[in-house]
Amino acid sequence: MAELTIAIAKGRLQISTLELLTKAGLLPDNDFSSSRRLAIEDELGRFRFIFVKPMDVPVYVEHGVADCGIVGRDVLMESNPDLLQPLKLDIGKCQIVSAAPNGMIRNAHGMLRVATKYPHIAAGYFGMRGQPVEIIELSGSVELAPVLGLAECIVDLVETGQTLRDNGLSIVDVIAESTARLVVNRASYQLKAKAVGALITSLEACASKGGRTGD
Ligand code: PRP
Repeated sequence: MAELTIAIAKGRLQISTLELLTKAGLLPDNDFSSSRRLAIEDELGRFRFIFVKPMDVPVYVEHGVADCGIVGRDVLMESNPDLLQPLKLDIGKCQIVSAAPNGMIRNAHGMLRVATKYPHIAAGYFGMRGQPVEIIELSGSVELAPVLGLAECIVDLVETGQTLRDNGLSIVDVIAESTARLVVNRASYQLKAKAVGALITSLEACASKGGRTGD
């Protein structure tokens, strides 16, 4: 049984996470990016890595099935889990934005329909502005919603801006900046202090622009 189980977000963060773990000497230099295996162990039996949907990383770590996880700040802002976040990592840089056709939200005086994968972030953002909204929760391809008349605007992640551009949308406002975080289960942080501490130190050495959060 591996000493630490680490949950890794599948999808856009996966390749850069595996590169970071390899650079930090935590993972052998194999190409796992094309593998469909959902769990791998390092050769020394120190770590077991499990690959789960980004939104599920905090769930696995909060329940202690995984001791640690690497996941975007966007996911943590959305689900607000009870976890330690000791390290900001220098990968997965993106923004959470509101966006609309030509960067103009029409119908801003009535009930605004907002399509998003981030219902809590969207509701909090528009709530702070006193803007009544109907949140339309989608699980992907959010940019289609304004194009097809399902919503007036979206709240979504932007990395390169390509998806917005290709669908005739522009940023209205930047709600938050996001990069990846190391998250740690509270009990694991105490009970496996040595292993977790070593993991933090190894990753910290590779987090050139990241670093300890103080959380
Ligand atoms: C994310 C996000 C945007 C896109 C932005 O979706 O929700 O759709 O990436 O990236 P870009 O600015 O580089 O174009 P993802 O690829 O995770 O897929 P999904 O829409 O199916 O969730």
